[in-house]
Amino acid sequence: MASMPRLTNEKGTLVTMANPKSTSSESYRKLRTNIQFSSIDSQIQTIMIASALSGEGKTTTIGNLAVTYAQEGKKVLLMDTDLRKPTVHRMFNVPNHVGLTSVLSSQYKVTEVLRETGVEGLHVLSSGPIPPNPSEMIGSRKMTALLQDLKEEYDVILFDTPPVLAVTDALIISSLCDGVILVVSAGKVKKDLVKKAKAHLEHVNARILGAVLNNVQLPKSRSSYYGGNA
Ligand SMILES: Nc1ncnc2c1ncn2[C@@H]1O[C@H](COP(=O)(O)OP(=O)(O)O)[C@@H](O)[C@H]1O
Ligand SMILES: [Mg+2]
Repeated sequence: MASMPRLTNEKGTLVTMANPKSTSSESYRKLRTNIQFSSIDSQIQTIMIASALSGEGKTTTIGNLAVTYAQEGKKVLLMDTDLRKPTVHRMFNVPNHVGLTSVLSSQYKVTEVLRETGVEGLHVLSSGPIPPNPSEMIGSRKMTALLQDLKEEYDVILFDTPPVLAVTDALIISSLCDGVILVVSAGKVKKDLVKKAKAHLEHVNARILGAVLNNVQLPKSRSSYYGGNA
């Protein structure tokens, strides 16, 4: 695994958008560079950020990474595949009454639900309404076919996902991705849980490019949307 930078992000928001010159934004640019360097022989086009638990900074990291790729001039799509607790739409202030689940259930064409963001070159595909069968939707042939089409349109596709130890969804997405970055909340998550998450990813042959340490304080009482220990 390549070494990845430690991420800082004063307010936990889209610092790369609000303050691109800050040292926090620089840490996301470093992450982007390290991802590029982590794979010499093959292009990394599809990327997800994984973590053992919720609240470790997956959404914050993938959101800022998406902005950073777009700022480099890439055509970028950020997909919210955390179908149980979607938050990407809030981060980018786009509607979510329709989205990915609307496409996977054949109610809308993807072109009808893609959203522009305040960042040139960055589109968001929000989750859409929460479905009764998220894992089934994520693992569907329709999802694979959709991704195939989107890969023709975008230089980089980034996925926001639920925690690895909560549900199988993140592992399914990892098998669709060229690379996975593990985000670890600094000093907060027990080593054995990180190891367990890594083992789960390795078990499904995910390509782990590296791990980043995120400077985040987990809230004292975290509501569990996913069940289990997440
Ligand atoms: N580097 C950071 N610095 C400060 N706050 C952060 C950072 N990363 C995440 N946060 C905050 O921590 C909370 C959880 O982060 P989030 O990205 O939603 O985690 P996850 O998607 O893994 O559940 C959010 O309130 C977010 O704003
Ligand atoms: Mg999240």
